Amino acid sequence: MKAVVVEKYGAFNSALIKDLPDPVPGPNDVIVIVKVADVNFPDIMVIEGTYQIKPPLPFSPGKAAAGVVEQVGESVNGLKPGDRVLACVEYGAYAEKLVARADQCHLIPDEISYSKAAAMGLVYLTAYFALTDRAYLQPGDSVLVLGAKGGIGVASMQLAKALGAATVIAGVRGSEHVRNAEGLGADYGVDLSTENIRNSLREAVLSVTDGKGVDVVIDPVGGEACEAALRALAWRGRLVVVGFASGDFPQIRANYLLVKNISATGLQVSDYRDRQPERTAAAQAALFGFYLKGVIDPHVSKVVPLDRYSEALDAIRMGHVIGKVILDVGNEH
Ligand SMILES: NC(=O)c1ccc[n+]([C@@H]2O[C@H](COP(=O)([O-])OP(=O)(O)OC[C@H]3O[C@@H](n4cnc5c(N)ncnc54)[C@H](OP(=O)(O)O)[C@@H]3O)[C@@H](O)[C@H]2O)c1
Repeated sequence: MKAVVVEKYGAFNSALIKDLPDPVPGPNDVIVIVKVADVNFPDIMVIEGTYQIKPPLPFSPGKAAAGVVEQVGESVNGLKPGDRVLACVEYGAYAEKLVARADQCHLIPDEISYSKAAAMGLVYLTAYFALTDRAYLQPGDSVLVLGAKGGIGVASMQLAKALGAATVIAGVRGSEHVRNAEGLGADYGVDLSTENIRNSLREAVLSVTDGKGVDVVIDPVGGEACEAALRALAWRGRLVVVGFASGDFPQIRANYLLVKNISATGLQVSDYRDRQPERTAAAQAALFGFYLKGVIDPHVSKVVPLDRYSEALDAIRMGHVIGKVILDVGNEH
């Protein structure tokens, strides 16, 4: 099988396209013939060796793929060859076949395409757990989403609405994207690229929340945007740290949490995937249900063939993607 292979950690475009022997399933695994692989910001860091989890070399990157079950291990129940599945893995999705734990493969309803399913692979699960299990989102809440035109951002805004948020505010860079906030699924847009963001973000948020601030912040950006967003929280507000797309770890001062009765918390979706597979399966089923009801719809803005994987990663790195980019692995759809 053909695969993108990292033989040594290095530049994101330095991985090789190689022919490898087909994977063999362990007793609890399945082999998936990949149709579409999901491309994500962390894949860049995984290839560079700067991600918190470093796969043993050599490996194929890629945290999710949609395809068809080819083989199942001897202890697997509930999946069979021919089933359409979304596989959520730590790495291995940029390949014509992947091996995945059976309990990390989710049946895709017939009405959902491989592309849409793959695009719901990582960022929608992340947004789901961030909003429900870390931010305790309540119907009627107001939500500010930073990095709003990215993968996590679009997913978080769509899901916040689907879960009953009354007001969703998109934090984006540049007036053009502020004007397009509604197109991204938000009620309002705020510009994260203004000078003195510490004050300007707070003022912009207060102006659209009757002076109260937001109940929830979803932050995949970090840096000064995170520190500013903390100041835009309402009394008893919750900020969820999801990532650091800015490259900077924010400083969160404990006295600020106390004075405003607010919480700052974190979310890493791979822990839910590995520690709570049944709960993750229920979450993925809920996401597919939202899609079928028409209340969420992943925005796939670019499709790239597997062997041009570096174009997909470059588009993410350069901020040229709205929502998601995916790899067409070329196995017949
Ligand atoms: N915790 C988890 O389980 C988990 C899961 C998946 C991803 N993540 C992390 O979440 C982060 C975002 O992932 P993603 O898939 O959403 O990436 P993405 O699609 O590349 O989107 C990142 C967004 O962040 C914005 N951004 C970057 N630097 C910024 C800055 N200095 N100020 C304001 N906005 C900035 C970008 O805005 P522009 O468009 O203006 O460039 C872009 O919209 C990454 O750090 C990733 O590793 C975490």
